[in-house]
Amino acid sequence: MILLKDVWYLYGEKPAIKEINLTLKDDITYIIGPNGSGKTTLLKVSSLIFRPTRGEVLYNGENPWRDKKKLLKLRKKVVYVHEKPILLRGRVIDNVAFPLVLRGYTPSDAKDRAREILREIGLESIENKRRRELSAGQAQLVSLCRALILDAEYIFLDEPTNMLDIENREKIIELIGKKKAKKIIATHDLALPLQLTGRILLIKDGKLWGEITLDEYRSMFLNIH
Ligand SMILES: Nc1ncnc2c1ncn2[C@@H]1O[C@H](COP(=O)(O)OP(=O)(O)OP(=O)(O)O)[C@@H](O)[C@H]1O
Ligand SMILES: [Mg+2]
Repeated sequence: MILLKDVWYLYGEKPAIKEINLTLKDDITYIIGPNGSGKTTLLKVSSLIFRPTRGEVLYNGENPWRDKKKLLKLRKKVVYVHEKPILLRGRVIDNVAFPLVLRGYTPSDAKDRAREILREIGLESIENKRRRELSAGQAQLVSLCRALILDAEYIFLDEPTNMLDIENREKIIELIGKKKAKKIIATHDLALPLQLTGRILLIKDGKLWGEITLDEYRSMFLNIH
């Protein structure tokens, strides 16, 4: 369980998130809110990338920021997928296999598993392409595959569908839904929580404004569209 206790994060003087009290323990938690409301910052603090400026992030009751070894160990259980995909220089297959190699797989086992997930998403034809040869959507798919291949406890997905066409969006949603990890998803894709249901949290001006039920969300969604 990841617990945030009165968490603040400041860029310079300005708080991007404040007074966050939150428990992350559901299969899927959505973070919904306008541009600049603090979603990405909240995800980065919760996924142990950013140290909170104030307050505590506890992972199974422990504060990983107090012990560097623990922090490095826990970071292996958590995956964060950036809103702007960051890929390594090598080929697609190397990118997807790399996290497994880091976790002790032999390069050939890692590549076999990478090939499987690429096939599942229909990307086998681009497995030998290099980073610069990919479209923005393909790069996003590759970075999602690279995260979904791992048996992480938590997967943080920052706007996972924003560059995908309808078909790839459906494939990724299916893959996310099948994944056993706890998923925390920041999104502007308002239909997503209707397709893949989960806890829905609203954030505005860096503050959590509360949780809404699927029924409330549905009527809100129908009003918008
Ligand atoms: N590196 C940074 N330096 C300074 N301010 C930042 C930085 N990153 C974000 N901010 C500010 O922090 C606030 C929250 O930004 P954040 O990226 O968390 O929002 P967001 O909800 O993810 O927005 P979006 O929907 O556009 O992705 C914004 O006011 C933003 O301007
Ligand atoms: Mg963001």
